[in-house]
Amino acid sequence: MTDQLEIADLEVSIGEKKILKGVSLTVAQGEVHALMGPNGSGKTSLAYTLMGHPDYHVDAGRVTWRGQDLLTLSPDKRARLGLFLAFQYPSAIPGVTVASFLRNIFNAVHHPKPTTDDPQQAAKYTGIPLAKFRRLMEEKMGLLRMDAGFASRYVNDGFSGGEKKRLEMLQMAVLRPQMAILDETDSGLDIDALRTVAEGINASLSPEMGVLLITHYQRMLNYVKPGFVHVLMDGRIVMSGGEELSHQLEANGYDWVREQVGLPVGTLDESGAPEPVGEHA
Ligand SMILES: Nc1ncnc2c1ncn2[C@@H]1O[C@H](COP(=O)(O)OP(=O)(O)OP(=O)(O)O)[C@@H](O)[C@H]1O
Ligand SMILES: [Mg+2]
Repeated sequence: MTDQLEIADLEVSIGEKKILKGVSLTVAQGEVHALMGPNGSGKTSLAYTLMGHPDYHVDAGRVTWRGQDLLTLSPDKRARLGLFLAFQYPSAIPGVTVASFLRNIFNAVHHPKPTTDDPQQAAKYTGIPLAKFRRLMEEKMGLLRMDAGFASRYVNDGFSGGEKKRLEMLQMAVLRPQMAILDETDSGLDIDALRTVAEGINASLSPEMGVLLITHYQRMLNYVKPGFVHVLMDGRIVMSGGEELSHQLEANGYDWVREQVGLPVGTLDESGAPEPVGEHA
């Protein structure tokens, strides 16, 4: 059965600050949606809220996925329901190798330790056999053209920006989520890496997987074709369209959107930084 992630009238704040003011968006399995919007408009906040980050307080609205009220579930339960987030700024975990990390998250999602009071039963738990997991990991590393040496490095420790993004995609390839939220997976990638990462995403696509692809750059969408493009601005999705919308944004910038939807033109984003639409990562 095809399921969909349904976000309805979602309002989110951090501390006193209201970030999302009524976001509504539906992403079905098998669909690729691109989410664009100026710096500070709340794209990452939306992604974190969907995964259950404790700093993001849901003031109103609903999110349903696979018949469940997602907002009541802990992040690990969300992951077990097939939700995946590739971070915009992945963290380093010194002391934990990539291989061990990946096997741990794979087990946590696909072979969770049974809850039992019987110590003998608990001791029997092994998760996926090591050799089987190695084969899976190496196959996916090949797909993303990652050097085998990566597996024994510490997670993101000393990784270049592009290597971090590849590791995010390796996690996705290994976990095979049904709903993947990719937060600026294209930023910081050189031209060849962008193509490789995009190929990795495309290879992971299936009728069982929905994708919410957060990006500033139309270029990524040349490789991973979105069926839908949305603009987040002023705490809401203010405009949606097909792939052509990303070209219009690239050509006209966000003031064009503001004009179209009746928002004040010429305002900078929250951080005051220039808007990078149309620039290169
Ligand atoms: N933990 C936090 N504490 C305080 N403010 C926060 C926190 N997280 C996010 N914000 C603020 O919320 C707003 C939205 O930030 P968010 O990171 O969601 O934007 P974004 O659309 O992802 O931007 P970018 O395109 O630059 O990645 C910003 O003004 C940001 O400073
Ligand atoms: Mg962001």
